[in-house]
Amino acid sequence: MPLSPWRGLGGEAFSMRSTFSTRLGAIAAAAGSAIGLGNIWRFPYMTGENGGAAFLLIYLGAVLCLGIPLMIAEFMIGRTAHADVAGSFRKLLPGTRWYWVGAVSVFVAIVILGFYSVISGWTLEYTWRALTNDFQTSVASAQLVTPDAQASQVLTMDFNAFATSQLPPILWASLFIAINAFILLGGVQKGIERASNILMPILLLLLAMLCVNSLTLPGAAEGLRFFFEPDFSKVTGQTVLAACGQAFFSMSVGMGCLIIYGSYMDDNTKIGKTALSVAGLDTMIAILAGIIIFPACYSYNITPNAGPSLIFITLPSVFVAMPGGYFWALLFFILVALAALTSTMSLLEAEVTFFDETIGMTRRRAIMVSALITWVFCVVSSLSLGVWNDYKIAGLNFFDFCDFITSNIFMPLGAAAISLFVGWKLDRQIVRDAITNRKEDSGWYLMPLIWALRVFCPAVIFLVFLKGLGLI
Ligand code: TRP
Repeated sequence: MPLSPWRGLGGEAFSMRSTFSTRLGAIAAAAGSAIGLGNIWRFPYMTGENGGAAFLLIYLGAVLCLGIPLMIAEFMIGRTAHADVAGSFRKLLPGTRWYWVGAVSVFVAIVILGFYSVISGWTLEYTWRALTNDFQTSVASAQLVTPDAQASQVLTMDFNAFATSQLPPILWASLFIAINAFILLGGVQKGIERASNILMPILLLLLAMLCVNSLTLPGAAEGLRFFFEPDFSKVTGQTVLAACGQAFFSMSVGMGCLIIYGSYMDDNTKIGKTALSVAGLDTMIAILAGIIIFPACYSYNITPNAGPSLIFITLPSVFVAMPGGYFWALLFFILVALAALTSTMSLLEAEVTFFDETIGMTRRRAIMVSALITWVFCVVSSLSLGVWNDYKIAGLNFFDFCDFITSNIFMPLGAAAISLFVGWKLDRQIVRDAITNRKEDSGWYLMPLIWALRVFCPAVIFLVFLKGLGLI
């Protein structure tokens, strides 16, 4: 019996559950989840730190061999069960403890969203600074006092003063969480899908404009060479593992976000094709972000290896020197803030559906509770960079600790669990039906997918995991 979008595995009706209204809407939402700070903030700085093109090549390999199979697995779980993360596992393998994977994922979503919304808040502050021409004015006024002050020194001080302060970052992050909650109140179609359908094209347009600008800068070629000409002497085991971790983070795999979005897909959505489109868009945008950032850095003689502060310090220094810098800075920070927004929506939705469907709250209340819990994590994360920096857990402040345990422990574990679940535990007929859409499509990739999920992905993830813990 073909499953209708309104029926679960046992044929029970889900009259209240929505689906995305169009295929494109599903792709826009999932791509919105994937495309975020991971692409525009994390990918460029990781590439900058790990030697450029060689990192890019390994990253592409990781997307293809790990990211895509895992994304298909998550979509499959969600689209078959049409339930929240914990509920999906419970429905597919009732009476087992697998639903704990889902429950833990919700906790991971809370922790990720806690620190992610702090950085998202920074992007709002920086959009504001760009709008008020603050980079330029701040550098100019510092140079009045100390004529040989470098723009990058001034902007570093500005950034540190802001990020370690108490109220402003918390206020921006709170605003960001509130915007998320507001969008989710609209529901799946009128909230998530509509916002994604509006925001994603704007995002692509902004990216295209920024790219054209970067490519026409004098000295752009050198930046492109850094990004596209591999130097394999820089590759170490560390590079490979960093690239895998980046692929997980960027594609939103490993903690069930995509299970939720899969659960809103109707039963005729081709999950393989959707995963390819989403992965393709995600990768393209990471590459475009590189094309925006590296030529700009090189043409103003600034090395792009600053790490996490790349977009908050290095780039503003570039914008200060660039003709039309006011305009480009503004476009850039709007771009980053929008990208962050569509990603945080998916993380918050993972929490909301859990409180709604597994705990049994109304959607409205689930949104309030999720936003509140996230806010508490976010406040602690933000303060831990400043006044609470002395309180350490395992030698790290709370912010770094959250980043560390999610990307090095929970996400690899979650990804391995999802991969083993679909590879070994899920009924083969369910997998086959999901891939072939009940024999309507060829599903030629079924066997390679299953073996990737059974053996290859868990093995590689295990290595990433050991490396993340510093055990190899
Ligand atoms: N993929 C997003 C980015 O690139 C972040 C994100 C959203 C995420 N949902 C996730 C990361 C789930 C890990 C897991 O910024």
